[in-house]
Amino acid sequence: MNEYPLPTPHPTSAHPARVYNVWLGGKDHYPVDQEAAELAAGANPTIVPSVRANRAFLGRAVRHLAAAGVRQFLDVGTGIPAAENTHEVAQRAAPESRVVYVDNDPIVLTHARALLVSGREGQTDYVQADARDVDAILDAASRTLDLDQPVGLMLVAILQYVKDAEDPWGITRRLLDRLVPGSYLVLSHPAADVTAPEVAESMRIYNERAATHASATPRSRKEVERFCEGMEILEPGVVTLTRWRPGPSDPADDSLPMWCAVARKE
Ligand SMILES: C[S@@+](CC[C@H](N)C(=O)[O-])C[C@H]1O[C@@H](n2cnc3c(N)ncnc32)[C@H](O)[C@@H]1O
Repeated sequence: MNEYPLPTPHPTSAHPARVYNVWLGGKDHYPVDQEAAELAAGANPTIVPSVRANRAFLGRAVRHLAAAGVRQFLDVGTGIPAAENTHEVAQRAAPESRVVYVDNDPIVLTHARALLVSGREGQTDYVQADARDVDAILDAASRTLDLDQPVGLMLVAILQYVKDAEDPWGITRRLLDRLVPGSYLVLSHPAADVTAPEVAESMRIYNERAATHASATPRSRKEVERFCEGMEILEPGVVTLTRWRPGPSDPADDSLPMWCAVARKE
């Protein structure tokens, strides 16, 4: 399954996990990632608050699912471990929670040990795979997750790396098809229709420096809603990050250009 070579000491193209790591204030990136991250954030100053709000949304969504009784999570597009990874949030709420992480970037694999430190009652696993390899992901996940029980499928800030021509909607549907009713989709995605000129310019800057397979596409609210087709979208619907059930300490800035939603499979 490992068709992605380990990064060379001086990669010439930027990669999503490492660029995201720059924006989150981490140390796991190369100069090419730092340059792409800084130039893109210069063109769109909402990027850094957006990635922070995205992590906060991920935490709120996992807590919501845990409160709804979900004990299994499939987190595709995990990223380099940061604060409040999915298993930490889920196992704090329910120690028996099981989490399978999936990412296609070898740098995430090199950090996987941090993701595998599960509480004793729960379990975690890491699978190196591409989101486009739906069957491989589900087969590997089924070693840890019971696919006859509900699963929280996390597609948080990843689908922008799947091009229209690769049918991200079909990939999402095929992942959900193998999950039982009562499963959930947790989704966030850069917006093409909020602060549109700044988003377009920052994406152009990033894409110029990114590996071809990792270029990004922002999408409109309607296009993001399509990922939840046939599911019950929980209140408050497809909204910008800080509008999804904010807590008292969450910032109120609702102009951050990322859509998010949580939907339940019926
Ligand atoms: C922007 S980060 C998001 C990390 C985390 N989900 C979060 O929201 O904090 C996107 C992650 O998706 C991964 N990724 C991008 N394209 C992918 C693909 N086709 N298959 C699997 N992972 C992918 C990247 O390597 C990166 O780690």
